[in-house]
Amino acid sequence: ELYHEKLRGQLHFSPKRGWTNDPNGLVYYNGEYHLFFQHNPYGRGWGNMHWGHAVSKDLLHWKEIGEALYPDKFGPMFSGGAVVDANNTSGLGENGKPAMVMFYTGAKAWAQCLAWTTDGRAFHKLDHAVVPRINKDNRDPKVVWHEPSKKWVMVVWVERDNAQNSIQILTSPDLKNWKEAGVVYGGKGDDRYLFECPEFYELPVDGNTKEKKWVLTAANGEYAVGTFDGEKFTPEEEKLFNQRGRDYYASQTYSNEPKGRRVEIGWWRTNTDKDGMTFNQSQSIPTELKLTRTKEGIRLTRTPVEEMNALRVKTYPFSKMKLKAGAANPLAKVNVELAEIRVEFEPGSAKEVTFNVRGVPVVYNVAKQELTIDGVTSPAPLQNGKQSMIIYADRIGLEVYASNGLLFMPVNINITAENRTLAVSATGGTANINNLTVYELKSIWE
Ligand code: FRU
Repeated sequence: ELYHEKLRGQLHFSPKRGWTNDPNGLVYYNGEYHLFFQHNPYGRGWGNMHWGHAVSKDLLHWKEIGEALYPDKFGPMFSGGAVVDANNTSGLGENGKPAMVMFYTGAKAWAQCLAWTTDGRAFHKLDHAVVPRINKDNRDPKVVWHEPSKKWVMVVWVERDNAQNSIQILTSPDLKNWKEAGVVYGGKGDDRYLFECPEFYELPVDGNTKEKKWVLTAANGEYAVGTFDGEKFTPEEEKLFNQRGRDYYASQTYSNEPKGRRVEIGWWRTNTDKDGMTFNQSQSIPTELKLTRTKEGIRLTRTPVEEMNALRVKTYPFSKMKLKAGAANPLAKVNVELAEIRVEFEPGSAKEVTFNVRGVPVVYNVAKQELTIDGVTSPAPLQNGKQSMIIYADRIGLEVYASNGLLFMPVNINITAENRTLAVSATGGTANINNLTVYELKSIWE
């Protein structure tokens, strides 16, 4: 049955059929969250890139409504972003209705092109590129409004002096005419960090709107935090990384988010080209981004959007407990397929605290303050001696948030449907579980 196939993520968007990779044009417009996505409508492998299109009222339940952008004389439709032109700077609005303006790469001309809609359903394109090829296979335009200079700002991946991977900043008064401004250098070869799919946005530090920083990220999730004067981005800290899941790439954030949040969706690389599936790959759970000051500096955190809570259908609460090495499994009575686990623990004398999630061990090494899942190990620092984690389990893997969101680890593992058990255990000593709740979740595909 469509949307309930064996390897169809039940907490995540994936296309009815064909391949998807990057999320594109994430924007809230006319009462809907739009999710465009790199889409091959003709096969389960990468190719023939179109912009597929789905909409949602709540970031959870998606309705796929067909292709929005088809390949044209500029080439296949590669990734990019979208904005709402509320002040009609582009003149593309109609009868007082602001336009949604989309930017994409025509991947034969390697030019940045513009499309728009005034109803979120019918899409029009300018017949010329707004940013002609600069120097290479330039791609992935993302646009954001800069209030102090009253200008639009575009970031796009290029290569600059000495073949460095670089992000070109451009500015525009009207979304149509763009002028080159600053360049941010991101290193060469394997040392690079600014490669493909740049993102650029401003966030308050610890919620303090008097202290805001700009964040520049690229496809693999490494990022820089700094200041931006409307032309030039000055990084204060670079090559930061808080997500080591091998399986998360090319994330993008929503423009015009109605609650003022910075909400991100990324391509969750899944292992789904098998078992007769008609589609392949998935988008992640939407997460909310924030900046927080740590001992090391200012860092991004990710937490699942609160909308996710609406999927809870059954609660298994557990009271505060001491978890001794070798003790009986406190979660023995739980029986779930789709699950959310929320826990806070103090490791005490334990050497390891392990959650076994439907056969997948999530292992916290106390001395090293590291989390290991499926062979991937990431730093997960204790906060005031505590570790807090959120784990989502779907058919196609786990999304794990640790250290109050300093670590986000999506890991793709196709989980055996029959295994509906959870376990928590300690080794080497006794851990204190301060609180622990397991929720059974319902599918987003109703
Ligand atoms: C990243 C990426 C982008 C490009 C798109 C093509 O995954 O390579 O740079 O626009 O995918 O599908």
